[in-house]
Amino acid sequence: MPEWIPVAAAADCPPGTSIERVAAGRMAAIANVDGSLHAIDGLCPHQGGPLGTGALCGTTLTCPWHGWQFDVTTGRHRVSATVRQAVHEVRRRDGVIEVRLHDPEPPAGPDS
Ligand code: FES
Repeated sequence: MPEWIPVAAAADCPPGTSIERVAAGRMAAIANVDGSLHAIDGLCPHQGGPLGTGALCGTTLTCPWHGWQFDVTTGRHRVSATVRQAVHEVRRRDGVIEVRLHDPEPPAGPDS
């Protein structure tokens, strides 16, 4: 079972925002949707954009580079059913956000 990894202070990710953090060498995009935390792989499968620094609207996180959009609750691309980010467990513990990584290998992206 993967370890829980502390990545940020809870105050760093208030409701309606997302942040980018590195956990065990992997980028994670952490989003706070109305007080509920979600974490997906932070490396955009399009061209490697930093998803965690994108804009969060509801459960939709938009990559800041070219606008690909992902549902942070499922990791699924909003348009393409074949594109999906790994979803990680995330929790708050004693004022700290911790993630537990799943899918040791990032999912394959599209050819484009
Ligand atoms: S790198 Fe994310 S949309 Fe292009």
